[in-house]
Amino acid sequence: MPTPLIKLYYKNVMADAIGPRHGITARQFDALAKKTSPLIAMLNEERKAGQTPYRDLPYNEEIPKKVKKLKTKFKGRCENLVVLGIGGSALGIIALQTALKPYMHNIYEKKRTGPRFFVFDNVDPSQFASFLHWIGNKLGKTVFNVISRGGQTAETIAEFMIIRRLLLRKLGRKGYQKRVVITTAFGKKNTLLNIAKKEALDHLRIPDGVGGRFSVLSAVGLFSAAMCGIGIDSLLEGARAMDKKVSRRNFYKNPAAINAAINYHFYNHGKKITAMMPYSYALKDLTGWFKQLWAESLGKARDLDGKTVHIGPTPIKALGATDQHSQVQLYREGPNDKLFTFLQVNSFDEDPRIGAAPRCAPEISFLAGNNLSSLLNNEKKATEYALLQDRRPCLTVLFDKVNEYTVGEFIYLYEVTTSFAGALFKIDPYSQPAVELGKQATFALKGRKGDYKPGLTYQQWAKEIRTRTKVDKKFLV
Ligand code: PA5
Repeated sequence: MPTPLIKLYYKNVMADAIGPRHGITARQFDALAKKTSPLIAMLNEERKAGQTPYRDLPYNEEIPKKVKKLKTKFKGRCENLVVLGIGGSALGIIALQTALKPYMHNIYEKKRTGPRFFVFDNVDPSQFASFLHWIGNKLGKTVFNVISRGGQTAETIAEFMIIRRLLLRKLGRKGYQKRVVITTAFGKKNTLLNIAKKEALDHLRIPDGVGGRFSVLSAVGLFSAAMCGIGIDSLLEGARAMDKKVSRRNFYKNPAAINAAINYHFYNHGKKITAMMPYSYALKDLTGWFKQLWAESLGKARDLDGKTVHIGPTPIKALGATDQHSQVQLYREGPNDKLFTFLQVNSFDEDPRIGAAPRCAPEISFLAGNNLSSLLNNEKKATEYALLQDRRPCLTVLFDKVNEYTVGEFIYLYEVTTSFAGALFKIDPYSQPAVELGKQATFALKGRKGDYKPGLTYQQWAKEIRTRTKVDKKFLV
């Protein structure tokens, strides 16, 4: 059987499909090719010079080896796997699990491959308390994977400290040591790494220079995936196969260059919103992962020359067919300010068949005998058609099927698309200064000593933040 693949289909963004006012003309497409082609060589060079280490993750042999070793260590001792992390240390992990594990994974008992799986990427007291009640008597069969690249993120550290206290109290020091795996970058000032070393906890490394939102193919995503029975070798193989395609020097054959160029074109032609809409529940959380990748990488105040630009397409997520009944009214009749990207799956592993219509309801017999996939994919066609009627540009990423290989391809495609988009927008896609400011402000508010703002002590800065955000009763209604 040929290897299942993904393909980018872009006919329906072209002027021939939606008219020259909203679509890309052949001449515009050639101009995009001219503009983007030198960037292909530039990104390939940057990669060779070691400036984009995320590009080499699929070739790293050490990480999967370590991950598999740890998996063996926990064999028969882990019924629940709990990830504590946020942003790039959570979204890719969630996406892999939703894509590659059955919907009922946590509920299955005998059929479940691997432990029950949970991710906490928030510090919501009610949510976490509810989980603590449930996990309380299961700690001896639970593994906590604490993930933070920087090793100090308040949300992750706070949850870790709750779990640490609980494990120490209930299982003692040895029990605690056996139940925690730290995933972090290796730097001298990394708090989480220091704790891992001092307290003799298992730890996995995030390679230097790999940012959170580009880290899913490192130990960040691979450990929990492997623990839950996801084939990480095939995931990486898919990413490697896509690497070949997105490194092609010919623009017209390079899906990441084309994808980025199309997104760039529409941003500059009044379509500043990009909506990703999978017609597959399994792919639903890849849109959350993409949303972060796109927003944090491309939303920037300054360009590479330091000029103020306030640039960045806004990613939004939807799910077909669900959101046909909640968003499509706006998508069709609201402002023509969006580029749509559908994700479509040709073949599903399981595909329930619709039963016969009751005799009293012949009007629903048109559905009888159909598989659900045929209804779902026809709904995608119908929605795409409706959008095209209103001259809305539509891309589709076609999946032969959803499996480790195609998900690996997809992840790599979008990571490199983001690099191309960054180069086209002339911004640095690998920084996130605005996220850092919020992190630092939280530290100051919670009384962590430090020099945060030039000329201010951390207490003075905390006071300034409190004053700016204090509730003024005059405006309360
Ligand atoms: O992509 C990023 O860099 C961020 O979203 C981070 O992943 C997020 O802020 C969490 O950071 P850390 O992994 O250091 O805890």
